[in-house]
Amino acid sequence: MGIQGERAGANRSFWERTAPKFSTGPLQQDITADVCVIGAGIAGVTTAYLAAREKRQVILIDDGPVGGGMTGRTTAHIVNALDDRYLDLENFLGEECARLTAESHTAAIDCAERIVREEKIDCDFERVDGYLFLPPGGSVKELMEELEAIHRAGLRDVVRVDSVPNINVVSDAVLRFPRQAQFHPTKFLNGVASVIVESGAKIFTGTRVVSVEDGDSVTIKTQDGHTITAQAAVVATNCPINDRVVIHSKQAPYATYAICLRVTHPVEHALFWDTAQTAKDEKQEIGPVPYHYVRFARDDQGDVLIVGGEDHKTGQADDCAQRFVKLEQWARDRFPFVGEVTDHWSGQVMEAVDGVAYIGRNPGDENVFVVTGDSGNGITHGIIAGMLIVDLVAGRENSWAKLYDPSRKTLKPRAIADYVAENANVAAQFRDYITPGSVKSVHEIKPGEGAVLRHGVKKIATYRDANGDLHAFSAVCPHLGCVVRWDACEKTWDCPCHGSRFDALGCVVNGPAISDLEPVEVPES
Ligand SMILES: Cc1cc2nc3c(=O)[nH]c(=O)nc-3n(C[C@H](O)[C@H](O)[C@H](O)COP(=O)(O)OP(=O)(O)OC[C@H]3O[C@@H](n4cnc5c(N)ncnc54)[C@H](O)[C@@H]3O)c2cc1C
Ligand code: FES
Repeated sequence: MGIQGERAGANRSFWERTAPKFSTGPLQQDITADVCVIGAGIAGVTTAYLAAREKRQVILIDDGPVGGGMTGRTTAHIVNALDDRYLDLENFLGEECARLTAESHTAAIDCAERIVREEKIDCDFERVDGYLFLPPGGSVKELMEELEAIHRAGLRDVVRVDSVPNINVVSDAVLRFPRQAQFHPTKFLNGVASVIVESGAKIFTGTRVVSVEDGDSVTIKTQDGHTITAQAAVVATNCPINDRVVIHSKQAPYATYAICLRVTHPVEHALFWDTAQTAKDEKQEIGPVPYHYVRFARDDQGDVLIVGGEDHKTGQADDCAQRFVKLEQWARDRFPFVGEVTDHWSGQVMEAVDGVAYIGRNPGDENVFVVTGDSGNGITHGIIAGMLIVDLVAGRENSWAKLYDPSRKTLKPRAIADYVAENANVAAQFRDYITPGSVKSVHEIKPGEGAVLRHGVKKIATYRDANGDLHAFSAVCPHLGCVVRWDACEKTWDCPCHGSRFDALGCVVNGPAISDLEPVEVPES
């Protein structure tokens, strides 16, 4: 494995293949700052950049390089065409909140464009149209009701069109969202990180934060024993590492998959989605069923098509290879001009119970801020976090503050039902304490594979490396004690409860856990 946090999975994403990651060195002393941002993905980097522009002393910390988390594994649709429907947002939060949601995501697209232009960042930023179409059997009536909600939210330039360009799909109705955008996320982060450093702010990579204590000033401790004292801290670790329970009970982790295929003739770049349907309707299960999100990108050999989807709750499926096969077939059926598969990878999104991210003061704290609950739109939510949190730190009013408040409660029946279902699902995962292991003996584990074994009353996460050597860890997640499961595609141990993930050697790559899996003796049988 690489250094901790270098890559949040064994498969290399298209972005990781086509751009290096920015890194500096670890923090080696105690230090003070106006603002300490923890996590150098889109949320942390944008927040650090916007805070540094206000002449604040800023420190940005990451336990890997810049962009080693989910921003290095995204598909980077930068959009106000959200994964969750505007009709649902109206139902959960009311019409005014749906309007503020549209306004803030539109502002985030503009903000990304402004940063790219003003800082001359070479990151393949493009304005593109986005097309939302129906899957077979999808309801035209529902899509038209959605269009009305989109218009009520203020996006009056979204229109119904007859067909989708570039795509071999028959859909009874299609919505076109103009002025969406896309970029190469790693190149964007690299460019902004360089500007941050040039402005005098400091970035420390390879530095893991293990605690964040609120107070008149915030005390942040690193694993290496150093202390950062800051007027404000922003926890931008994708899934908060400072909160044990409150926020994690209001969001749920979902694995999502992406493949990249070579394009064999020139195409006009655009974004595409089919409409997600809730599995509750079909299988009485929780969460979104597989749907698809699509874009084009370019490497030095020409255009590629990137298709994502096949989501499932983290740690709760063991058929990842088939999911890539299904994505490929879906892509070939609709984009007949694609050639070989060049890359495939997966990552994780955090689904907030009402579809809107949690951005603002950490519940109960004064000077600690969080950003999480990306709901599949983490690029714009991350940029919104930068704009909003910098205002909150400065004591300025921001009309989005209430919408994104991490302490907000949603009392609508469907949001409560989702909340109850997700938390019941978490509780059900504790059955792993009494089930058998996924294999009976270490002899069944092949090189490069892992499995959870039962050893007396304990569950042991056991990995056999490429040399045949075994590595064993307690399978108990150090967050709140669920039992981790092996992800054969990314070669990670995934916690099915709140989304902590650990590399094959037990090193944490995704919070909320802040510590590694505990090494134990290799079981004998
Ligand atoms: C396959 C896929 C497709 C997606 N497609 C889209 C899309 O098209 N559009 C969209 O808007 N969103 C999309 N998303 C979601 C979006 O990419 C993410 O929500 C977003 O990138 C998250 O950014 P972030 O800054 O919050 O977190 P991250 O990018 O994960 O950054 C968090 C950082 O925190 C660091 N960290 C964690 N713990 C610690 C610690 N204890 N100490 C120090 N550092 C720590 C990590 O190393 C990491 O670098 C997609 C996600 C996936 C996986
Ligand atoms: S992530 Fe919460 S118990 Fe593992």
